[in-house]
Amino acid sequence: MPFNTLLTRKLGIKIPVVQGGMQWVGFAELASAVSNAGGLGILTALTQPTPEDLRKEIRKCRAMTTNPFGVNITLLPALSPPDYGAYARVIIEEGIRIVETAGNSPGPVIKTLKEAGCIIIHKCTTIRHAQSAIKLGVDFLSIDGFECAGHVGESDITNFILLSRARQSISIPFIASGGFADGQGLAAALSLGAEGINMGTRFMCTVEAPVHHKVKEAIVAADETDTQLVLRRWKNTTRLYGNKVAKEAARVEQESTSGKFEDVAPFVSGKRGREVFINGDVDYGVWTAGQVIGLIHDIPTCDELVKRIEREAEETISRAASLMYDGHQHLKSKEGTVGDKTNNPTAEVWGVGKSKL
Ligand SMILES: Cc1cc2nc3c(=O)[nH]c(=O)nc-3n(C[C@H](O)[C@H](O)[C@H](O)COP(=O)(O)O)c2cc1C
Repeated sequence: MPFNTLLTRKLGIKIPVVQGGMQWVGFAELASAVSNAGGLGILTALTQPTPEDLRKEIRKCRAMTTNPFGVNITLLPALSPPDYGAYARVIIEEGIRIVETAGNSPGPVIKTLKEAGCIIIHKCTTIRHAQSAIKLGVDFLSIDGFECAGHVGESDITNFILLSRARQSISIPFIASGGFADGQGLAAALSLGAEGINMGTRFMCTVEAPVHHKVKEAIVAADETDTQLVLRRWKNTTRLYGNKVAKEAARVEQESTSGKFEDVAPFVSGKRGREVFINGDVDYGVWTAGQVIGLIHDIPTCDELVKRIEREAEETISRAASLMYDGHQHLKSKEGTVGDKTNNPTAEVWGVGKSKL
């Protein structure tokens, strides 16, 4: 049965699953595969060295899918920041309708994109930031819990609380991001009030993700404790795959007496991290992954993954509905009628409230 949420309707997609922007991963191969599977694929603008390269990537993606796809713009503090305005102009000129924004001071970029009629999905890790983004006129919030890969924020609130807080206190639709890998997760997010989910790490571990197979094997082998937080000292807390370099960075961060970022900078170099995706040496540099690595056990195509999520979500929602008791039916369990001592001598002990259907 097709999904019908504010996200699917507004974006024109079939399944309420978004592939979040990923630096060095969000190329046309992955974004088009996700969109062809019925979700929303997203190109990462800053993965392209110049705005003109982004234009080429958008055209390449358009040749690979006729379905909607978006572009991510991430605004991070930098000594010489990229020309965000020029990237935004290319997005508009190329007719991109959906933009995922993230990071600091997104106001001017969001204003430009909104004036051009783009739908903005803004990613944030706190309710306070969500409220500020609403004032900027964004269409959806992507609520990123502490479980997520990459920039987790400084308040360490996981999605069980954050999503319910969003439902209680924000006035625009939101999707759930961080810790999602399967249809049970999608069903849970919908139950908590979200209109869909956003996934990063899970999509990184698919056939079409343009990263070395050894990185995908490392994700499959990892469990949920295998991530490492770094850069808290500089209020830029980031969740990484917990390899040797990330652990060394964390140690230096903790032990540095100068407290200077320069001490840790060589360990968290983005250049070396990028190399990992190309050469497959998972300890060569730091790379981003979320706690959800503990839930990832295979390397499917995006089509297999998205279809599986759709099926699992449907089954989960039906199962949850079947747990409701209308007051007339007799509840039957494998062990017999609940409370019926003849079929099931232990039934009395379980009682209706704890029936195992
Ligand atoms: C390798 C990698 C790179 C990422 N790069 C970015 C980025 O450049 N901009 C951004 O907004 N989010 C980035 N993210 C975060 C994802 O878009 C998404 O919010 C996050 O992965 C959700 O958590 P999950 O990994 O548990 O699904 C990245 C995630 C990964 C795994």
